[in-house]
Amino acid sequence: MTEISRRDFLKLARDGFFYLSGALAFVGFLRFLDYDPNPAQKTEFDLGLAEKYPIGSRIILPEIPALLIHTDSGFSALSLTCTHLGCALEPNAEGFTCPCHNSRFDAEGRVSHGPAAKSLPALRVELTAESRLILHLT
Ligand code: FES
Repeated sequence: MTEISRRDFLKLARDGFFYLSGALAFVGFLRFLDYDPNPAQKTEFDLGLAEKYPIGSRIILPEIPALLIHTDSGFSALSLTCTHLGCALEPNAEGFTCPCHNSRFDAEGRVSHGPAAKSLPALRVELTAESRLILHLT
């Protein structure tokens, strides 16, 4: 059995540390190259079968955020993103409130209290041939 000297052991440990830190730095660099500061946002949402939303329903879709409305004349939707600085709105008795700066919107999306100045934008709702609803943000 060969014995390893203290000096050889320290040299081996130093070299191992050197190569390991180099490999970690290389992996970090590869991850940096793949970094996307503005990942593409999803612009279409499959809401499932239209029959899930009866006439007269007003369904809040918090993951989008949006309000899906079904009336006798069909489906429509409103964005529930505040037109002031983009916070997600919360429902209240009259419509919607922004938790960020307290803008308020009525049930139809019109501004009832600033600082927001613009109404909530309508979103496009598509009814597919398979009776599925697709909500489009753009
Ligand atoms: S972001 Fe909604 S009021 Fe400012």
